[in-house]
Amino acid sequence: MKILITAGPTREAIDPVRYISNHSSGKMGYALAEAARDLGHEVILVSGPTALARPGGVQFVPVITAREMRQAVFQHFKKANIIIKVAAVADYRPMAVARQKIKKTKNTLTLKLIKNPDILKELGKKKGEHQILVGFAAETKNPLGYAKVKLKEKNCDWIVVNNVAQKGIGFGADDNAVVLLGRHGHEQLFQKQSKSQLARSLLEIITSHL
Ligand code: CTP
Repeated sequence: MKILITAGPTREAIDPVRYISNHSSGKMGYALAEAARDLGHEVILVSGPTALARPGGVQFVPVITAREMRQAVFQHFKKANIIIKVAAVADYRPMAVARQKIKKTKNTLTLKLIKNPDILKELGKKKGEHQILVGFAAETKNPLGYAKVKLKEKNCDWIVVNNVAQKGIGFGADDNAVVLLGRHGHEQLFQKQSKSQLARSLLEIITSHL
């Protein structure tokens, strides 16, 4: 099968030297790309900037901003059987990017932000009958409640819920603990384990339901 995976953060420029981003390391997305490749699937990995080595044996598409990620995703999405959106996309970007470095002349500085496109939501509207759409939800409170709303609102088949406020899992960690929710009521807890082990288990379940 062809599996399209997005990973890492996106970066949104403020001026030539600064940007807005988040704590995503890309480890979960890269683990999924490697596990999918090892299970014999064809993998396209669209990645925001990370410190990780490019996995071999996958088609690697580097991007920086949410809008670049959106473009890359829609370039490849039609031919994908499964789309897994692990990336922590910046929800907002500065409305205007300063052409020159902003000088610290003022005591306070207000940045006006504008919403980025919600790539997963768009995919949910456009996906074909046989395409499987998997989202991730990064939450700091009420993870299951918020994730159930995202599953429905973004028309996903599956959503993987991360409680990013918990120590030792989530952003930057080598381990993760998640709940997998399916559109037909499937609910499965995965205890703390390595992201590579978890990636393999998630893929096995998702592909076995096809
Ligand atoms: N996502 C996306 N495009 C965005 C924001 C999020 O494609 N602009 C995707 C993420 O890749 C993830 C899912 O939507 O698969 C949920 O992302 P998350 O950050 O948990 O939630 P948001 O939709 O951004 O909502 P909120 O920040 O309000 O929790």
